[in-house]
Amino acid sequence: MANFKLLLLPGDGIGPEVMGQAEAIVSFLDKQGIVGFSVERDLVGGAAYDAHGVAISDAAMDRAQEADAVLFGAVGGPKWDKVPYQHRPEAGLLRLRKDMGLFANLRPAICYPALADASSLKKELVEGLDMMIVRELTGGVYFGEPKEIVTLENGEKRGVDTQVYTTHEIDRIARVAFDLARLRRNKVSSAEKRNVMKTGVLWNEVVTAIHKRDYSDVTLEHVLADNCAMQLVRTPKQFDVIVCDNLFGDILSDVAAMLTGSLGMLPSASLGATDINTGKRKALYEPVHGSAPDIAGQSAANPLAMIASLAMALRYSFGEGKLADALEAALADVLAAGTRTRDIAAPGTNAVSTTDMGSAVLKAFQKRL
Ligand code: IPM
Ligand code: MG
Repeated sequence: MANFKLLLLPGDGIGPEVMGQAEAIVSFLDKQGIVGFSVERDLVGGAAYDAHGVAISDAAMDRAQEADAVLFGAVGGPKWDKVPYQHRPEAGLLRLRKDMGLFANLRPAICYPALADASSLKKELVEGLDMMIVRELTGGVYFGEPKEIVTLENGEKRGVDTQVYTTHEIDRIARVAFDLARLRRNKVSSAEKRNVMKTGVLWNEVVTAIHKRDYSDVTLEHVLADNCAMQLVRTPKQFDVIVCDNLFGDILSDVAAMLTGSLGMLPSASLGATDINTGKRKALYEPVHGSAPDIAGQSAANPLAMIASLAMALRYSFGEGKLADALEAALADVLAAGTRTRDIAAPGTNAVSTTDMGSAVLKAFQKRL
């Protein structure tokens, strides 16, 4: 049996609680001899800052680089509002993404039939929604230099962030989107702001060229990013794969998440390039939701996005597509049976705890094996 190296970085807030539920499934798979794991744990975010004075230690980074996959919970919280900018909890996540070269962020948004009522949109608009946002994750305004606040001669201050993209960065993320579309409904919507941004003009050119050269069998449409946000809440089911830069992807994926009923439902995979020698690619899996400090420690958080992130790890890092299907089906079973955490419960109905939700998924998963 293969023995995969898995690094768990639970982080802050509800991170450790939702991670606990994914971990239960990992140890089940390992104990039953279904997939072998050697599991390591480390700190990230505010927890790492408290212990080491940095948002992620070099030792934790080394472990992440050596792991077959990293499972990441969430970082941040008011406790760390005043720490120096370079040590803020989010810096740990950004370092992981950048140093591991995780340029491709896959954020699927699926509206489970049982949850169509939990969406803030009308049921018929979201029922059966199944789309994928492919977000560029290591470039753009998140990392562009200069990035600074300077004091001008007249005493005024100026803040600068730099949006920058090169051809190869756009090329490789576009290819990820086209390849995924071929396995789905064969349509890519490329979102940018070519009407006001030079990076948008280049993005549009590169995506168009690659499409023409290598992917003309896939339907491609170009959409302005603001219009894309509007279309997402108007007729979300028109989309199959959306590809966009780092910042637009951050925003559009939060919109997409809410279509599915709750931010607590959306998983993500962040993937690096495939190593030509080993055939492996670095990978980190994380729920799209944050650390939700307001409900941390109450066992009220929804662990489904974390568990669905583990399903993505099974699919993309461990070559276990069938197990991933079974785990995703188990999530749907539990929802169909009416089990709800607070974020997705109808007003006036009972909500279960984080641990009860996790146990229900594990039970449903076992039934499907
Ligand atoms: C996300 C988050 C992060 C981002 C934060 C926590 C740095 O919002 O993964 O969507 O902006 O990328
Ligand atoms: Mg975000």
